[in-house]
Amino acid sequence: MSMDAQSVSEKLRSSGLLRTQGLIGGKWLDSYDNKTIKVNNPATGEIIADVACMGTKETNDAIASSYEAFTSWSRLTAGERSKVLRRWYDLLIAHKEELGQLITLEQGKPLKEAIGEVAYGASFIEYYAEEAKRVYGDIIPPNLSDRRLLVLKQPVGVVGAITPWNFPLAMITRKVGPALASGCTVVVKPSELTPLTALAAAELALQAGVPPGALNVVMGNAPEIGDALLTSPQVRKITFTGSTAVGKKLMAAAAPTVKKVSLELGGNAPSIVFDDADLDVAVKGTLAAKFRNSGQTCVCANRVLVQDGIYDKFAEAFSEAVQKLEVGDGFRDGTTQGPLINDAAVQKVETFVQDAVSKGAKIIIGGKRHSLGMTFYEPTVIRDVSDNMIMSKEEIFGPVAPLIRFKTEEDAIRIANDTIAGLAAYIFTNSVQRSWRVFEALEYGLVGVNEGLISTEVAPFGGVKQSGLGREGSKYGMDEYLEIKYVCLGDMNRH
Ligand code: SIN
Repeated sequence: MSMDAQSVSEKLRSSGLLRTQGLIGGKWLDSYDNKTIKVNNPATGEIIADVACMGTKETNDAIASSYEAFTSWSRLTAGERSKVLRRWYDLLIAHKEELGQLITLEQGKPLKEAIGEVAYGASFIEYYAEEAKRVYGDIIPPNLSDRRLLVLKQPVGVVGAITPWNFPLAMITRKVGPALASGCTVVVKPSELTPLTALAAAELALQAGVPPGALNVVMGNAPEIGDALLTSPQVRKITFTGSTAVGKKLMAAAAPTVKKVSLELGGNAPSIVFDDADLDVAVKGTLAAKFRNSGQTCVCANRVLVQDGIYDKFAEAFSEAVQKLEVGDGFRDGTTQGPLINDAAVQKVETFVQDAVSKGAKIIIGGKRHSLGMTFYEPTVIRDVSDNMIMSKEEIFGPVAPLIRFKTEEDAIRIANDTIAGLAAYIFTNSVQRSWRVFEALEYGLVGVNEGLISTEVAPFGGVKQSGLGREGSKYGMDEYLEIKYVCLGDMNRH
């Protein structure tokens, strides 16, 4: 049944999950100067809530409370932390409808996809509740007979987690899950565009027993919050998902206090369709990789490279599939494509499309704002795109699929790697030998073979080149929150 945004937000308000204050030291607080920022529904432009607009002072207090909480949280046994995380997971799942509604309200993605994000986001909490108990050290055969050598893994300390608007829940849980599991405490700064889901998740964390100060949420003045997190010597790690430009600035600003840094930055994912691909599999996989969240993911196919022999057939079948996508309000039944996050996002897409068309690319379908108005954009397929066009160099972050023609496997690998980004890539081929040759040659952190949706909590997510540092999810994601301590026990032959 379709819902309307107004009644959804009223219901959420009365359920206690629509929170507007920040969380510092276990207390819900307004900003100290009572400033607020408005959170909009991108599908309607309506204001959903006024939330606390916090800055330096609130962030410093959040850091102090996190620092204090670290002593007791890190000393709990892994099993004790695991139980708290498991309860948080259970609560996230028990409230998946409401959390999904919040995501659709503030971010715009269709409700079904939003509820899918809740399951995806919660899976990181479940996974790290389990993984908490598997942080093993090591015993090293000693170099001298009177010594014993040990390796301990210990939590890094206070973590600053700066998260984006495109996955208002999952990008938080993917960071907070391993941080809390390993014994770290966290100050989260969600995007000002989508703080409501973060606050609701934090409320559930409190209900699950996450102690005061172990998880704080501050939002509002991004430069002030970022500076406070980056300059504090008490914050020992910064983890960020967002643009490459901002990631580089954070990395530089983390240098004076030599913080550990994990960065999940922009991509320019190629989806490579070879002549020997199964056409249906290639269409379905590329569609999923391109149009998830209306093209607003870092792993979205940004360039669709199609081999000469299958180019026209693929262009036709793919465009037919894109034509069937339903654009609309995320609360309407049947919607598969929500709005873009804001007008700046639409303007960027328009500039990229105009640039491509002015240089000779041809629009097969779409190519303009949707008749629904607001920030809705038509799902678009453009053919004859070449490497001198902006859209083949930069992240589109919108529902536009550029088709680029190539002749040989070597060409495809060269074009795919000809970018500063290296997050995700997709290959469609029926040849096992070719798939190995190509995925080994691709300079990317994630590769999907005959599959367009590859993110999961059990596998490492992260990029190479300028797409970032470190990995999230999986057993590898835990290491980002741990320090290694080597202990040498001497004089061990004495009786
Ligand atoms: C992202 O867009 O940054 C995350 C996408 C994912 O987790 O699949």
